[in-house]
Amino acid sequence: MLSIDLKGKRALVAGVADDGGYGWSIAKALAEAGATVCAATWPPALNIFRTMLERGKFDDSRKMNDGSLLQFERIYPLDAAYDKLEDAPEDVRTNRRYAGIGDFSVAGLVQRLKADFGDTPLDIVVHSLANGPEVKKPLLETSRHGYLTAVGVSAYSFVSLVSHFSPILRPKGAFLSLSYIASERVCPGYGGGMSSAKAALESDTRTLAFEVGRKYGHRVNALSPGPWGSRAASAIGIIEETMRYTAANAPLQEALNPEEVGAAAAFLLSPLGSGVTGTVMYVDKGYHTMGKATEERYSAP
Ligand SMILES: NC(=O)c1ccc[n+]([C@@H]2O[C@H](COP(=O)([O-])OP(=O)(O)OC[C@H]3O[C@@H](n4cnc5c(N)ncnc54)[C@H](O)[C@@H]3O)[C@@H](O)[C@H]2O)c1
Repeated sequence: MLSIDLKGKRALVAGVADDGGYGWSIAKALAEAGATVCAATWPPALNIFRTMLERGKFDDSRKMNDGSLLQFERIYPLDAAYDKLEDAPEDVRTNRRYAGIGDFSVAGLVQRLKADFGDTPLDIVVHSLANGPEVKKPLLETSRHGYLTAVGVSAYSFVSLVSHFSPILRPKGAFLSLSYIASERVCPGYGGGMSSAKAALESDTRTLAFEVGRKYGHRVNALSPGPWGSRAASAIGIIEETMRYTAANAPLQEALNPEEVGAAAAFLLSPLGSGVTGTVMYVDKGYHTMGKATEERYSAP
């Protein structure tokens, strides 16, 4: 039987703070395939995530196929806007949600993983995070600061993860990030430079795949899922309409389930994906192939 087997592998999923996003569904799929999973969570969301987990609020979503509950081996703080702690401004470091949690930078996360699990603690790193403070503004009205923040947090953060984590991945490691179709098509309402950030993320996926493949033998891919009403997407304000439109106009006229994104991620990150690197794979019921929208039911004559 051909199966996705991640037994003995350890994955880090960056960008999990509740059970409603793609990071969660990817973490769960990796665990279903046998991997041990650590999470990295944005400091402002860290306490509430830990508390809700402890209080059993996510127990329904934690249920695995064998009846056990999804476990996170560790949950680390990570603010992917900062490569090292010194990069974080004083007002962030002393903020009550950051103070006392230790080094929450990308370099700090590497040190914590090494301290907990040794020099090569990981096989898999997933980047499932994005933030654009002006996402509701059209590009025409986006400030330089808003644009650069969107690109810094949502795209450069992946470059930083790949460059910091490549040396501590075991041989044949794999990276994955999450893009969106706004990288190459116009998606009104997805503003603030977020479309630019996703375009950068996809371009970087190819370049990083080359550099990291040659230097370390690791793979770098991206998934481009269809819309889903996660916390981040709901904050943009157009997610319900976008989900309805996409489902109505895709070749497969049905809602996308985050489990389908988790399954695609597990494949790409597993040894079954060993021939795939530098790729952006759509998981969107085929919506990206359409040149002319049609909500009509259609049968070829
Ligand atoms: N939901 C969608 O419709 C959709 C579609 C395509 C791609 N994506 C992408 O999927 C990924 C996950 O998003 P999601 O929609 O599942 O929402 P989500 O809310 O589950 O995940 C986004 C995460 O990013 C974290 N985050 C924000 N700023 C951060 C920072 N500076 N450092 C560390 N973490 C930070 C948030 O705390 C949150 O946990 C993102 O890259 C998003 O762009 C989402």
